[in-house]
Amino acid sequence: MINPLRGMKDLIFDESRKYQHIIYAASNIAKNYGYEYIETPILEETALFKRSVGESSDIVGKEMYQFRDKGDNDVCMRPEGTAGVVRAFVSSKLDRQDGTYRFCYYGPMFRYERPQKGRLRSFHQFGCESFGESSVYEDFVMMSMIKDIFNALNIGYTLKINSLGCKDCMPAYREKLVAFLDGTKNELCIDCNRRIDTNPIRVLDCKVEKCQSMFNDSPKLLDNLCDVCDSDFEKLKSLLDNANIDYEIDTNLVRGLDYYNKTAFEFISSEIGSQSAIAGGGRYDRLVEFLDGKPTPAVGFALGIERIMDLVILPEPKREGYYLGSMNEDGVEKLLDTSLKLRKKYKVTLEYKAKSLKSHLKSADKVGAKSIIFIGNDELANNTIWIKDLETKEEKTIKIEDFNSLKETV
Ligand code: HAM
Repeated sequence: MINPLRGMKDLIFDESRKYQHIIYAASNIAKNYGYEYIETPILEETALFKRSVGESSDIVGKEMYQFRDKGDNDVCMRPEGTAGVVRAFVSSKLDRQDGTYRFCYYGPMFRYERPQKGRLRSFHQFGCESFGESSVYEDFVMMSMIKDIFNALNIGYTLKINSLGCKDCMPAYREKLVAFLDGTKNELCIDCNRRIDTNPIRVLDCKVEKCQSMFNDSPKLLDNLCDVCDSDFEKLKSLLDNANIDYEIDTNLVRGLDYYNKTAFEFISSEIGSQSAIAGGGRYDRLVEFLDGKPTPAVGFALGIERIMDLVILPEPKREGYYLGSMNEDGVEKLLDTSLKLRKKYKVTLEYKAKSLKSHLKSADKVGAKSIIFIGNDELANNTIWIKDLETKEEKTIKIEDFNSLKETV
């Protein structure tokens, strides 16, 4: 038997239902916020992720599904959705048009991580990317949208926010931080030591406790913002306050991808164990430029669908549609025509096997049909069908051609 690869899984029955339920809720809300659906390839040039997610990130450094294709191209299964959408934005020359463009997407992402609860190698995201808006209002509106999505799905969360500054204030902060870290190098883990040289601010979200305790006295991002970043962050906080959206400030929240600046945020659940981030995102005002486009401010986020699936409760399924069955072969054949007609409008289950009424009633229950249509010996002889509404328990016998021509039923 061939099983799925380690860290990959099939979504089936309740899980695939939850997947669809989440995507449906998120897509509808994103539509109300002006997001258009975009679909980009799963396979992209490896260079795309190196230049966007960044060579210093774990994702690019350790976790890429990267290989040479038959044409010897260096390609990679997307580890996240933002890079592809930004590439599509530049490929479509939208960076040269004025205006705001908002895109949403969903689908599988691939990271060669160590699998554990909530951490898969093939997982799904729903994401949104907004281009052309530098106003912090857009960051706020995006967080409101995520709040709406979690409310619609009945999911609790904690919102954490931070500001990662910009190209004007970050270089000086980075120098201060590196000077501080140089004094603590021997106490820090191997990953932190590597990051001091590649991307020092990434040390701040190291998960090793000893490292974290060393950072208590480190220079803080939020104390080192330039006036513009500082006032944008203050504005963001007051917008969230006014909208009664609770948040925590986490000055060590730096995100695992290198393209962010200014606002960074994560939505955390306390109910799913250590892999607790259910959504993450932020501003990436320089990424379009890094991918050869005209400088364009941008902000986005992605939800982790599998982690949300662990929190979502599916609504009670409502009985719907028709179950059709007969006691004999000729009856089944008669029901074929009726079933095709009904299927134009309703969910229909037609049982091909001739069985007793009792057995059909059981099957109708199992598939959650609202009504059963049955042809027994009498019905067959009289060219009629017996219909029972399994909710109201109303039942009637009518001519089959009358039923087939009834406008209100079909
Ligand atoms: P990310 O934080 O790497 O951001 O991923 C977003 C969400 O995907 C996480 O919060 C988590 O719920 C889920 N996720 C990540 N890795 C895994 C995994 N191995 N298994 C299961 N779920 C996972 C991004 O990917 C950015 N592209 C978000 C973004 C969009 N920023 C701006 N625009």
